[in-house]
Amino acid sequence: MTSRIPGFYKLSPEQRLDKILANLELSEEDKTMVRGQNGFTIQDADRMIENVVGYLPVPIGIAVNFKVDGEDVFVPMATEEPSVVAAASNAAKMTYHTGGFTTSYTGSIMRGQVQITNLKAPYEALARIYEHKEEIIQLCNEQDPTLVSFGGGAKDLDVQMIQGDDEKMVVMHLLIDTKDAMGANAVNTMAEAVSPLIETITGGKVVLRILSNLADRRIVRARATFEDPFQGDEAAIANFMRATELANLDPYRAATHNKGIMNGISAVVLATGNDTRAVEAGAHAYASISGRYKSLTQWELGENNSIIGMIEVPLAVGLIGGATQAHPVAKWSTKILQVKTAERLARIIASVGLAQNFAGIKALASEGIQRGHMKLHARNMAAMAGASSGQIDKIVELATKKGTFRFDDIKAIVQSLN
Ligand code: MEV
Repeated sequence: MTSRIPGFYKLSPEQRLDKILANLELSEEDKTMVRGQNGFTIQDADRMIENVVGYLPVPIGIAVNFKVDGEDVFVPMATEEPSVVAAASNAAKMTYHTGGFTTSYTGSIMRGQVQITNLKAPYEALARIYEHKEEIIQLCNEQDPTLVSFGGGAKDLDVQMIQGDDEKMVVMHLLIDTKDAMGANAVNTMAEAVSPLIETITGGKVVLRILSNLADRRIVRARATFEDPFQGDEAAIANFMRATELANLDPYRAATHNKGIMNGISAVVLATGNDTRAVEAGAHAYASISGRYKSLTQWELGENNSIIGMIEVPLAVGLIGGATQAHPVAKWSTKILQVKTAERLARIIASVGLAQNFAGIKALASEGIQRGHMKLHARNMAAMAGASSGQIDKIVELATKKGTFRFDDIKAIVQSLN
């Protein structure tokens, strides 16, 4: 199967879905599912959260041209922001012939924190926890035999001393391999279960027992070479490199740079029913791990005017548990991605983040983002100004010719047609 479908963006939603499904040999039901006919119902919603009265549909677009670790993949992205899916697809196209994205994964270890207070001798408590390591790990693993049977479970622990305002606190980190789950439930259950034992061992009082979203033992690195993106324009290449330099030096720029990365990452995280807030918190905390908030990507010059990018990001995503299975459209997304493991999903997501970052900086370093962005946004404005769906393309064409994407101008065009 190939993720390259030239002219994909020009097709209707129906034709696009046909192309994707034909490439993946999926069923007719897979088609109706994502289009809402057999998809998410009010009963599904009512099972997921409290006080349900309805739900918010978000568009899902498919990013094409992605090759990750030698395998082509269609990437479902759920986002309300125009340009994101197009930008990811365009960036991926520029890496396709240089091999696409190559990734590595540190494994699926999550940290569960247990905060111990009221300690008379905190260093002694710290030492005692290490002495009881095997017993603590065993008690953790008794909580989740299924995870253990898949090779996961608590593997190790790590104890830190934190100076509070009026006492030293000991914080035990349980290091738990959550395999194909995001892991919050498994980690929190274990952290709560071992707390009485920790109080007995240390003589202290446990307060917090919760996973850390700074998933620094669940890191994906992805790299890609973008082939001659500026057609040899050396000034544009230099601008690109200058823009990336600023993201490493200035937190104001780094925040926006990383937001662009998260445009891609969060869209796939959401499409697969994973926890966008967990991934975002982890990414931003990791970006500040050196003590200063920095870029999650690095960029270097390659041969023949190519640009090489690398992203390093924690990705706590799963394929089992939570909305990943409870939400029929999230399940559909994992089918389209053809992912069998959370690891493969994380590798794809990091690649999308890198592509998104490349596309953002490429636009900023050349014509700026507003032209492309406003052209897409003009479609929304035309609809808001009362255009029928059959008129929208014509209105955008006229607005482009006039060189204006202001709402009052678009409204005038709509009125002139009606
Ligand atoms: C907009 O959603 C994202 C960008 O601002 C990212 C960036 O500045 O790199 C274009």
